[in-house]
Amino acid sequence: MSALVQMRGIVKRFGDFTASREVDFDVAPGEVHALLGENGAGKTTLMNILYGLVQADEGTIEVDGREVDLKGPADAIEAGVGMVHQHPLLVDRLSVAENLFLGGVGNGTARGMQSAIAGITERFPLDVDPGALVEDLPMSQRQRIEIVRCLARGVRVLVLDEPTAVLTVDEVGDLFGEMRLLVEAGHSVIFISHKLSETARIADRVSVLRAGEMVGTWEVAKTTPAALAEAMVGEKVVAAERESECKAGAARLKLSDCTVRRDDGDGLDSVDLEVREGEIVGIAGVEGNGQRALAAVTQGMAIPDRGTVKLDDRELPPVREWKRRKIKLGRIPEDRRHEGLTLDATLWENMLTGPQAPTGGPVFSRRRMVEWAGKQLEEFGVSPPDPLALAGQLSGGNQQKVIFARELHSEPGTVVAVNPTRGLDLRAQREIHQRFLGLRDQGVAVLMISTDLDEVMALSDRIGVLYSGRLDGPHPADQIDRREVGLLMAGLTRQQEFENGNGTGGLL
Ligand SMILES: Nc1ncnc2c1ncn2[C@@H]1O[C@H](COP(=O)(O)OP(=O)(O)OP(=O)(O)O)[C@@H](O)[C@H]1O
Ligand SMILES: [Mg+2]
Repeated sequence: MSALVQMRGIVKRFGDFTASREVDFDVAPGEVHALLGENGAGKTTLMNILYGLVQADEGTIEVDGREVDLKGPADAIEAGVGMVHQHPLLVDRLSVAENLFLGGVGNGTARGMQSAIAGITERFPLDVDPGALVEDLPMSQRQRIEIVRCLARGVRVLVLDEPTAVLTVDEVGDLFGEMRLLVEAGHSVIFISHKLSETARIADRVSVLRAGEMVGTWEVAKTTPAALAEAMVGEKVVAAERESECKAGAARLKLSDCTVRRDDGDGLDSVDLEVREGEIVGIAGVEGNGQRALAAVTQGMAIPDRGTVKLDDRELPPVREWKRRKIKLGRIPEDRRHEGLTLDATLWENMLTGPQAPTGGPVFSRRRMVEWAGKQLEEFGVSPPDPLALAGQLSGGNQQKVIFARELHSEPGTVVAVNPTRGLDLRAQREIHQRFLGLRDQGVAVLMISTDLDEVMALSDRIGVLYSGRLDGPHPADQIDRREVGLLMAGLTRQQEFENGNGTGGLL
């Protein structure tokens, strides 16, 4: 079968750095083709080239056997290629309808556009008010709007860059169902991910990039997760494990009857919780069950409507960045691009927030600060460890490492992290997990709120589950298993499950 897309010998350099090294990549008609690789492997870059956003220095691209010259996304869409980015590129201040019509759809008339969209939303339901402002919508809906927009423009190849990173378990299921419908209708989907389990579930073929080189392409049915993991990192990967015993001490973070009211169900309902020094408390839960509120009140971003949050026996008020460091609270925010970093500033500037950064004595020394930041970046494995690079140029995993370098160098007594490894590759995940375990062994109190059940199970000394704003637990890790946590996440109690005669086995 001839390829629908054929990329040959693609080379892309950014200054002295080569992000793409003579990459060959092809996509067959009617397949889901997964593109795997560690952070910074060059996945987004390769797809940006296919979408005309970035121009290759060398190499050719054919679509349907015809060589194309893609000077911009308009050329790519014309050739039949659409892309939905890692971070949706919608215009926040415009409505859903306005975003859909931006750039033109159908024959350009209002009625033509509406009927084009209606035809697509039959297959790809878009349960959203067309008049709603995009900035008010959750990420999952923004993503759907982008997908519908691509389909409405008649693309045949749809590139989805880490689409599942912003989705709940249910939403991932929906998306995968719809991806299958698309390929059955003759579309091809390129699916970028770090998750081997997702790749195994949805993809027909898989290609692996490593450090800008194409390692190979396999039929998913003929390979194994272990082989793919090895192809990605070039060595055997072992997950981080809790080896040392937990020596939990005094409580550092304490929530009593903590209630946060929110209309969308993402609040908290009378939560009691203690996090002690020397332990990791993991909070599992499907997104939207109170995680945001819990993060806000424990990271010093908001105060509860009722009840208290105490850090080291003092009530935790909303604190500014520098103050947060003073009270020894480390914060790994949920959204590293908006809350964690200033993307158009350099790495050393991003490292600078807080009094602990050595500003060079009484007189601020830029040179010393840059030197110090460079050392920190190296220690935390940031690539490139260049303090003068702009934060926005780093891959997602490397951005996260910069935040860790900044938050942890000041030796916090308590760290509150939200989805700390979301979007990170296996190696980076393992490094970060190792860091959490190290913090715990040093006596830091760690609260980790994560929608990644594997992560919660692997790291936590005690495990709590948020459902609809209520917290179950935390239970000691050896007294609750993965299946029970899964049931609690779905809103079932252990008691109910017992009464049902274990009828829900295999839920996860
Ligand atoms: N505009 C740019 N200027 C300089 N370097 C860049 C630019 N865009 C990407 N890079 C570098 O190219 C490399 C590949 O980046 P890319 O975003 O393609 O990785 P990725 O595989 O998508 O990673 P992730 O999984 O973290 O999203 C990275 O080291 C990145 O820092
Ligand atoms: Mg990427």
